[in-house]
Amino acid sequence: MTDVVLIGGGGHASVVASMLGELPGLRLVGYTAPEAHGTLEGVEYLGPDSVLADWEARAGHAPVALALGIGHVGDPAPRQAVTRRMEEAGFQFRSVTARSAWVASSASLGRGTVVMPGAVVNAGARLGAFGIINSNAVVEHGCIVGEHVHLGPGAVVSGDVRIGAGSMIGAGAVVVQGLEVAAGCLVGAGAVVTRSLTEAGVYVGCPARRRRA
Ligand SMILES: CC(C)(COP(=O)(O)OP(=O)(O)OC[C@H]1O[C@@H](n2cnc3c(N)ncnc32)[C@H](O)[C@@H]1OP(=O)(O)O)[C@@H](O)C(=O)NCCC(=O)NCCS
Repeated sequence: MTDVVLIGGGGHASVVASMLGELPGLRLVGYTAPEAHGTLEGVEYLGPDSVLADWEARAGHAPVALALGIGHVGDPAPRQAVTRRMEEAGFQFRSVTARSAWVASSASLGRGTVVMPGAVVNAGARLGAFGIINSNAVVEHGCIVGEHVHLGPGAVVSGDVRIGAGSMIGAGAVVVQGLEVAAGCLVGAGAVVTRSLTEAGVYVGCPARRRRA
């Protein structure tokens, strides 16, 4: 049995908590967050992240594995800071795949990445660390997805697309096959990306156009 602590206490964390609760071989010990959000899907609040600093002394065993439950909608900086700090302190993030998601055996998931209910990650896709593949999102064959990328609920990333670090593809958006989305892009909900996005910025509409930096 592996003990896991969930980092984060918001709505996204509640979904990750419910996913973890269904996985065999894991015991979800609790969640950390700057403030309490009551019990999260029945999971106890442990305190801020700093309570993990003396985990070994309190629990009598090595630090537990962590699951990342902090979301982002276009600004990954807060979660980047937390993951950096926790890794520097020696903790290890594990990837989490919901029971109802599908990840092809030839695909790979970076540490800390969560693949949420109903999502599909198809053959040969390579997902970097700390990604969010949200509910019912599809990552088609051969895609290469950078660190801290969030694919919103129902987003479809067609085959052989490359997505740079920290970008978000909004809910229900589509990226046409073979394109590149640069790091730091926020593609709005429902947009259709028909040409590579080579500059960071916010893109909306069909075809997706740059709205602002
Ligand atoms: C694109 C987005 C980031 C813009 O947010 P914003 O900068 O706060 O923009 P506003 O809401 O102030 O809207 C500004 C304009 O853009 C339009 N707009 C906003 N989102 C849009 C979208 N997804 N597609 C088309 N137009 C959009 C608004 O209608 C408004 O138009 P107007 O100036 O003609 O009135 C945001 O609307 C969005 O789509 N975020 C992704 C949300 C998502 O997928 N969440 C999943 C979480 S799990």
